[in-house]
Amino acid sequence: MRQMLKVERNISLKHFNTFGIDIVAPTLLYLQDENDLHQAITDLEWQGGLILGGGSNILFRQAPKNSVWLNRLKGREVIEENDNAVIIKVKSGENWHELVMWSLEQGYFGLENLALIPGTVGAAPIQNIGAYGCELRDFCHGVEAIELRTGLSKWFSAKDCQFGYRSSVFKGAAKGEYFIVAVHLRLSKVPLLNTTYGAIEQRLVEKQVSSTTPLDVAHAVIDIRKSKLPDPAELGNAGSFFKNPSVSLSQYNTLKETFPNLVAYSNPDGTRKLAAGWLIEACGWKGIRHGDAGCFEKQALVLVNYGQAGGDEIWGLASRIISSVYHKFGIQLDPEVNIV
Ligand code: FAD
Ligand code: EPU
Repeated sequence: MRQMLKVERNISLKHFNTFGIDIVAPTLLYLQDENDLHQAITDLEWQGGLILGGGSNILFRQAPKNSVWLNRLKGREVIEENDNAVIIKVKSGENWHELVMWSLEQGYFGLENLALIPGTVGAAPIQNIGAYGCELRDFCHGVEAIELRTGLSKWFSAKDCQFGYRSSVFKGAAKGEYFIVAVHLRLSKVPLLNTTYGAIEQRLVEKQVSSTTPLDVAHAVIDIRKSKLPDPAELGNAGSFFKNPSVSLSQYNTLKETFPNLVAYSNPDGTRKLAAGWLIEACGWKGIRHGDAGCFEKQALVLVNYGQAGGDEIWGLASRIISSVYHKFGIQLDPEVNIV
């Protein structure tokens, strides 16, 4: 017989968000499979609650008023395969990094540059996760979702997802309307290495890797990430707190005259993406601590919780950073993290 949907009342979310914000949810639902999800939709109705995966891209400023639905839907299967490629369907509660390592073991390649990104597979399309020259959209075949209001299933092709830099339809027009149930990924059976970004090649040389495999690339990415980013198990954080802002070419040229060391990358449309970490560091924030909220000493784009900071304390620091970057550069920083 099926187990009942597990529900807990008045429970702290401290261990369910990587910032470690200690805030109480009135109701926490543990969704182990799709039956739980359908039961939750039928019995409880969706009243604007919150879906939580790994809680690694969220800042709680206030306690959720409605129920929190914890996604633990598990399963991976191959649904199409030929000599060169495979399409896998992965349930949304699977851990992203475990999926990356599993896919490499199977000989399914592509996700290696996205190793060690925390969180669940279901959250990956929400902001089109990206790192080291790749984004989810490079591999996403489509997304299975359930409309929370009606319980009806809907298929989103990759095009329907409207992926952009740290954005998708799920963070835009359809925000809060769907529960992502599974993600379909198209992976290659032929290694296609992408080692040009950042310090990957340098790291491979340091490790004296001669004929590079996708697994070598994954390990190089893991090493680089560990050297720069705080481990949430040791220091609360949600990765980059802000997005890297884009400016027009003429705005970039004007800024570059005043700030010759400005770090920027070309976008395909000719605009320039500025390294927000550089802007924040140039304003003197790197390594600064206000109470238990801090700007990480090795990566200024990451805000950290030294222990007891509340969401408002972290947000207070973020607001002061936004103001000073605006004051110095005339650039508005936008949070990447979802603020609740
Ligand atoms: P959560 O934080 O639980 O949720 C994020 C948002 O998605 C919330 O609004 C939530 O309601 C919604 N959501 C979650 N699951 C579902 C679902 N099944 N259906 C509908 N809505 C849902 N991100 C990058 O892109 N690149 C990086 O390199 C990167 N590095 C990071 C490094 C560190 C140390 C940390 C802590 C974070 C980093 N992140 C990075 C951010 C984060 O890992 C990703 O955004 C990740 O996809 C979040 O997954 P999650 O399951 O923790 O999402
Ligand atoms: N920089 C500084 N000072 C800093 C931090 C960065 O000057 O304190 C400058 C350096 O010149 C550095 C450049 O900024 O070379 C870029 O820094 P980094 O390579 O660390 O990348 P990022 O732009 O800060 C982005 C993503 C990360 C992703 C990395 C690697 C965003 C908002 N962040 O960070 O994603 O892992 O590139 O691809 O796009 C996340 O989204 O949570 C995240 C961690």
